Amino acid sequence: MLMHNTAPDLRDAAMAARRNAYAPYSNFKVGAAMRAASGKIYIGANVENVAYPVGTCAEEAALAAMIVAGETEVIEAYVIADAPEPVPPCGACRQRLKEFGKDDVTVWMGTTDGKEEATTIGDLLPGAFDAGYMARS
Ligand code: THU
Repeated sequence: MLMHNTAPDLRDAAMAARRNAYAPYSNFKVGAAMRAASGKIYIGANVENVAYPVGTCAEEAALAAMIVAGETEVIEAYVIADAPEPVPPCGACRQRLKEFGKDDVTVWMGTTDGKEEATTIGDLLPGAFDAGYMARS
């Protein structure tokens, strides 16, 4: 585990996003930040709903912000929460990250009190489904 921040700007952006998370049901606020190919950073937070399955993840929101801004490639990602250990993206968000980032893209996972770990999109989603499987369709 890395105990220092190697992407402080991305971490700060994810922390800022987390402050505006809407999580009254789980009380688990998550922030995410995506550095896109242009170098710009796009942020998102989880948005829950009284109809629980309707809630959305922080990574989902940050990726959507990137797409709306006209970018399609993530080159570094950061996810942060107030948790005992760094929180990994959920299964659906791993697939979302895979859509917009190469396998070697670093995904940072941080806690609000300073713990930090790094992984990659490829390591988060081994054996992923991709368009190659549809070659005969
Ligand atoms: N959540 C995220 O936003 N991202 C993750 O990587 C893990 C989970 C949110 C979804 C829900 O609002 C809350 O955290 C508890 O699962």
